[in-house]
Amino acid sequence: MTSDHQDFVTVPSPLVSNNWGILELEAESAAPATASEAEDDAATNPEDAYDAGDVNSGYGDSLVSSTKSLTASVIDYVYENGRRYHRFQAGKYMMPNDETEQDRLDIYHHFQFLSLRGLLYTAPLKGNPHNILDCGTGTGIWALDMGEMFPCAQVIGVDLSPIQPTWVFPNVKFEVDDLELEWTFKEDYFDLIHSRNIAQSIRNWPCYLRQMFRSTRPGGYVELAETEAQLHCDDGTYAGSNLERYMNNFWKAGTKAGLLAPDGNVLRQYAEEAGFVDVEIHYYKQPWGAWPKNAEMKKIGETCALAIGKGGFEAYAMALFTRYLDMSAEDVVALCRLAQADVGGKRVHTYQIMWHVTGMKPEDD
Ligand SMILES: C[S@@+](CC[C@H](N)C(=O)[O-])C[C@H]1O[C@@H](n2cnc3c(N)ncnc32)[C@H](O)[C@@H]1O
Repeated sequence: MTSDHQDFVTVPSPLVSNNWGILELEAESAAPATASEAEDDAATNPEDAYDAGDVNSGYGDSLVSSTKSLTASVIDYVYENGRRYHRFQAGKYMMPNDETEQDRLDIYHHFQFLSLRGLLYTAPLKGNPHNILDCGTGTGIWALDMGEMFPCAQVIGVDLSPIQPTWVFPNVKFEVDDLELEWTFKEDYFDLIHSRNIAQSIRNWPCYLRQMFRSTRPGGYVELAETEAQLHCDDGTYAGSNLERYMNNFWKAGTKAGLLAPDGNVLRQYAEEAGFVDVEIHYYKQPWGAWPKNAEMKKIGETCALAIGKGGFEAYAMALFTRYLDMSAEDVVALCRLAQADVGGKRVHTYQIMWHVTGMKPEDD
């Protein structure tokens, strides 16, 4: 490199002032000077998230079961009816984890972002969070957005599948594990525990909420986002449609499998029983398709149709309908195509309700 390029490699001096006009930088001291500085440092050290004795480095440390690193046994996926599923705890979660599903999850994230009118969470956090946990992180897109929004926070995303990017911000970390096993995260640790759209797997919600409560710090929040497994229609256009046939099957198979999302009030009850207070439910209407007149709702509906169109009908139905309704894979694909046509066209006017349940762990007296 020639001296002409020197400017590009000059490292600015550390900040010492909050005066934006004359910012200077101060070097980090080798050891924290005060107890509160030590506490701040702890918040950005990923190893500190775990109970003593359970610390490992790398991908996968949180739960007592396994501390999975990316061994062949984790990425040696299961293939069934043309889709790819998780290997670790195989059969537990009904949806695929292949590229098509990963694309769909990223569109789905945008759909949720639009539904929340540009928010990533609704919990009324007090100040910037230091430690955040994303349960069932999927492609990790929410965790990464949070890591970017709060660069001083440590964000951990946990999932059964190692489908998250490996090049990530230094404050974001992913783990492969089963959240229904016993957690080894520290007690009173996270400022926010977030769980979105994980209903197609969780069997024991009260236990899930109790583990969340233990690991939330006093004054910290839990946020659960789920969607009901049925659609609404106010003008009769849904009755007799292929979309209705699909949803009836979904309800039937989901009930048989015991994997339908508990509704907002039930989640509220579980959250309160676990110990959370100030529990609130926020409801959101989400149109399926670009049929609404209102421009904002049309955009949300369009994005929803995209997320569903990107293999979404099949992702939800293939394992569930073939395993629990004895449908053939061909029949599932055919029904999915018909249902998708109902959402892609503007004839069938349906919407679903999504709820975000938030609750706070009581502050210490
Ligand atoms: C529908 S995806 C949602 C992903 C992400 N939360 C989002 O909203 O974009 C559900 C994710 O939860 C994960 N999951 C389901 N059950 C799990 C469990 N018991 N432990 C860990 N992850 C789980 C799945 O592997 C999947 O990636």
